[in-house]
Amino acid sequence: SKKVLLFGDIGIDDTVALIYASLNKDIEIVGIVADYGNVSREDAVSNIYYLMKLFDFPRGIPVIRGAEVPLTGEEPTFYPEIHGEHGLGPIIPDDEQTVIIENFLEIVQIIENYKDELIIVNIGRLTSLATMFILYRDLMTNVKEFYIMGGAFWIPGNVTTVAEANFHGDPVAVNIVLTYANNVTIIPLNATQQAIVTPEMVDYIEQFGQTKIFKPLMEYYTRFYQERDPSLQGSPVHDALTLIATIYPEIFMFGSYPVIIVDDLGGPSRGQSIADTRPYSNNNGEKTHRIAFNIDYEKFFYHFLSVMTGQQTN
Ligand code: BDR
Ligand code: CA
Repeated sequence: SKKVLLFGDIGIDDTVALIYASLNKDIEIVGIVADYGNVSREDAVSNIYYLMKLFDFPRGIPVIRGAEVPLTGEEPTFYPEIHGEHGLGPIIPDDEQTVIIENFLEIVQIIENYKDELIIVNIGRLTSLATMFILYRDLMTNVKEFYIMGGAFWIPGNVTTVAEANFHGDPVAVNIVLTYANNVTIIPLNATQQAIVTPEMVDYIEQFGQTKIFKPLMEYYTRFYQERDPSLQGSPVHDALTLIATIYPEIFMFGSYPVIIVDDLGGPSRGQSIADTRPYSNNNGEKTHRIAFNIDYEKFFYHFLSVMTGQQTN
């Protein structure tokens, strides 16, 4: 199975990704770094306490306190209207501390333990991941591969006209990671906005009883998306799709290009992600990153349902 170190800002779709991972026999979460983003870092940490009790994650997964603010030191914006007051929609986690919270340097231990078996998946802002590159560049440049949920290429963003939330939150961090990391796969809104989970899918999954929080979470999350765009048939599971990319790349259509991130913090284009698709653009050997531009929805649909109902086939 894939050994995954997950950096996340534990809101609703991050939680869906954790539920998916806990039901997927081919993915083993070996550590979780809780960052600010959808919610505060402390809410992200207490959400993980709560989720650890619900899922059959081995109690031993290290949970690490990640960044509280972006590299720029700005006060972050949270999104309770999408993810709920504490990030779990209507669910208010109790604060019973069920896992030991490790300090940031535990990440070094995890990377050294798993060596080139480890995949790093980032489904929140990139502040903690960038910090690891600032502190331990050699260690990080030898990590086998990275999957990053973020960006929007040629399509509108979700937090501004041009920028997606994870890249907008700390564009400086994104530039550091994309500069130094090797084997990066970016899963942007171009792909994740196609990964729509409908209320019918939620009800079907609910019947199989693999998880009792999926339905309340998705009802809260979908209410936001449908109020904003009534034509939507459901809501996008951005972060779960990013985990799916680590084991089922066949459902994606990828392109590899140099990527530019606008880190003009005060400007209207803050966090915009641009792929340089000019045919000659890579002649000067610029680093390229693999970007998912499309998914095969039918394959996503059957895979997601099979895993979430406990009947995983592939
Ligand atoms: C990304 O930002 C967060 O709102 C979601 O959890 C996802 O990681 C989508 O833009
Ligand atoms: Ca997230």
